[in-house]
Amino acid sequence: MERNTEFNERIRALAERIHEGFDYISVEEARREILLWISETRQINALKLRLEPPELTEEEWSDLDNFVIRRSMGMPFAYILGRTNFYGLELAIGPGVLIPRPETEELVDRCMDWLVNRIENGASNLRILDLCAGSGCIGVAIGRSLADKMRNREIHRATLDITFSDLSGYALEYARMNGDVYAEPGLSFSAVEGDLMAPFRTSNAPPFDLIACNPPYVHPDEIPLLSPETYLHEPREALFHSNPPALYIEILKQCQAFLKPGAAMMMELSPYIHEVVKLLCEQEFPDCETRIETDLSGKSRFLIFTCK
Ligand SMILES: C[S@@+](CC[C@H](N)C(=O)[O-])C[C@H]1O[C@@H](n2cnc3c(N)ncnc32)[C@H](O)[C@@H]1O
Repeated sequence: MERNTEFNERIRALAERIHEGFDYISVEEARREILLWISETRQINALKLRLEPPELTEEEWSDLDNFVIRRSMGMPFAYILGRTNFYGLELAIGPGVLIPRPETEELVDRCMDWLVNRIENGASNLRILDLCAGSGCIGVAIGRSLADKMRNREIHRATLDITFSDLSGYALEYARMNGDVYAEPGLSFSAVEGDLMAPFRTSNAPPFDLIACNPPYVHPDEIPLLSPETYLHEPREALFHSNPPALYIEILKQCQAFLKPGAAMMMELSPYIHEVVKLLCEQEFPDCETRIETDLSGKSRFLIFTCK
């Protein structure tokens, strides 16, 4: 019991240090994060950790101190841990690559529905592009979830060829690593570095069944709306664009030549620009269908684009 009290007091003191350094996190949140850190790094069940606090060595307390220093500077938990969870999968992550967001899982849901339908309609060799891939979370989640469905005989077998593409070679290192972890026979991942579709133009790449894309869509005027963790630590090139609506049109224009007949583009977008993006799409691509869909919180968040 005495050990429990001492452990809890030390944890509380560390939580207070995090809060003092970065008051965006409350002491209570910081305490929970410290326990999560211990449970993740020492593989101790979260409940057991609370019932029977472990006896940490001085080296382990000092390791915890390093966590506290970084967290009190606002560094995101996922960066310090070096991994995060997305669509039920553990992904490697680190400074320099965007931390995948929950709303992007909803983009994956839409891609999944669409691809399952395409497979059920006879497609046996699917090529998918995760454009602006960052950690590769979208491509990995699609690939792994489709492969699981095939294994469980929920859908027909099809080969899945998934490409990550990003301007940042650093982010692509993470995408490569994540793809490598989840690749299996019939599911392959590759990575291409460059500005939007430029690398595909030069290599004459064959077209895709689906292009999924979560581009940088925050206008610099929206900085006050971002959390300080994001603003201070996540890569600028993954967040900001000076003219997001124009970027969407540019992406759609560049991608058109790389879509198989009946293929789709599914993109995440900012709820602040959905109306103007839809209007521009209708002007620029009158023969294609542009649909905006809402996320679970009711925000207009996804652009579904198909051409005949
Ligand atoms: C919003 S992040 C999305 C990352 C990941 N797909 C996700 O959903 O978490 C945007 C990504 O686009 C990349 N990017 C920015 N400008 C680009 C460009 N012109 N061409 C290709 N990739 C670009 C950034 O490096 C960043 O990894």
